[in-house]
Amino acid sequence: MQRAAVAWRQQGRRIGLVPTMGYLHDGHISLVREARKRVGPDGAVVLSLYVNPTQFGPTEDLSRYPRDLPRDFRLCREAGVDVVFLPSDAVMYPGRDQGAYSTYVVEERLSQGMEGVSRPTHFRGVTTVVAKLFNCVLPEVAIFGAKDWQQAAVIRRMTQDLNFPLKIVVSPTRRDTDGVALSSRNKYLNEDERRQATVLIESIRACREAVARRKMPAAQLRELVQQAVALRSSARLDYVEFFHPETLEVATSVARGHQMALAVFVGKTRLIDNGRL
Ligand code: PAF
Repeated sequence: MQRAAVAWRQQGRRIGLVPTMGYLHDGHISLVREARKRVGPDGAVVLSLYVNPTQFGPTEDLSRYPRDLPRDFRLCREAGVDVVFLPSDAVMYPGRDQGAYSTYVVEERLSQGMEGVSRPTHFRGVTTVVAKLFNCVLPEVAIFGAKDWQQAAVIRRMTQDLNFPLKIVVSPTRRDTDGVALSSRNKYLNEDERRQATVLIESIRACREAVARRKMPAAQLRELVQQAVALRSSARLDYVEFFHPETLEVATSVARGHQMALAVFVGKTRLIDNGRL
């Protein structure tokens, strides 16, 4: 991968990276389209497909994470991806099983709240693998989805802090017709749970409406979300936070323009979503 990337750079081809864990959906394809727009018709669009073990906690769904390589390859071909980068664990984490792998990248501020509370080792895994992907693919631009808002903020920070010479682009969340954000994890939901999954976008809309005319205490909005979630028999709120969209500074008094993020278990599946209020 590095040899190909160096050769492309020598030929003046711009490289765009779309990092994914596979089981692709329209959201990923919209990131591919964004990458193509950024690098132009002669550029190289690389989609990395790697289910990164270090971003899963010990009780999380690594082994049952959905995979369908033939389908992913077909979607990549149709979307005009030039290269699918499919590294093995041995390439990404040499010697990890024997305890030899020992270098990680840690962002210490933006990664602390929200997902960082519920999944304490998650962002260390994300920043490590993304830094490694940047080093393997040498992109000028990397595209991430806005559904993982905190992830995008953490990666932007890491890119700046570690002087990676590339631009981070965050592309809007793609949604189903009922408003549910596209996610590979939606596959885990049964029919009834899929119906209940609308509670995330409905909560965002309700909070947006609530702050449209006046500031509201975060505690009151949290209550509103808790009530909406309680109406769904299979849903359980993990967290809901209101914060500044760039600094992620938590807001106790929430106004238009603040960002909101939430995680909800629907059955056993943990879904996340966010939106600008
Ligand atoms: O968002 C994801 O799919 C993953 O966290 C990423 C960025 C590909 C790193 O494994």
